Amino acid sequence: MAILKLARMGHPVLLARAAPVDDPTAPEILRLLADMAETLDDSGGVGLAAPQVHVLLRLFIYKVPERRTTGADDDSPQGLTAVINPDLILHEGDPVEDWEGCLSIPGLTGLVPRATRVSLRGVNASGASFTRTATGFHARVIQHETDHLDGILYPARLRDARMIGFSDEIIRFRDDIMAIHHDPTI
Ligand code: NI
Repeated sequence: MAILKLARMGHPVLLARAAPVDDPTAPEILRLLADMAETLDDSGGVGLAAPQVHVLLRLFIYKVPERRTTGADDDSPQGLTAVINPDLILHEGDPVEDWEGCLSIPGLTGLVPRATRVSLRGVNASGASFTRTATGFHARVIQHETDHLDGILYPARLRDARMIGFSDEIIRFRDDIMAIHHDPTI
């Protein structure tokens, strides 16, 4: 196992479209997933997509910590989950904005609209196909990670381009910044 080098925003690998994985059970894929798990654990993040470690393949890993769940349907804690060749369906409904970070954009956080409910199909680390429906933070993480496979970083999704900043300042001034966001006269 190894901790892999993270690509940061500005590196072109983060803007490329990743290619499907031909054989999800290939030893090199299992090894990549293990190395990504170690890298994610070391970084303290909740999700990591292969392009973030300079590998242009359609796979990611994620987890949903209990403190980020709402208890709503399909929003339960998730242990570390590998998703290979994801196929994502966004359910209808108004997108919801929430603050989001990314290991490739260290120190920053942005207010990103996301679909509240998604259905995800993919292949797991054992090579088995699976389908799951997710809501809340779980749905948000899946959309964020799938975006990485299409070369999309969350700043490109901002509805209000002002709503990005240093995480410690956003935490400090969260109510003030949200008031500015919601005030149509500013
Ligand atoms: Ni990210």
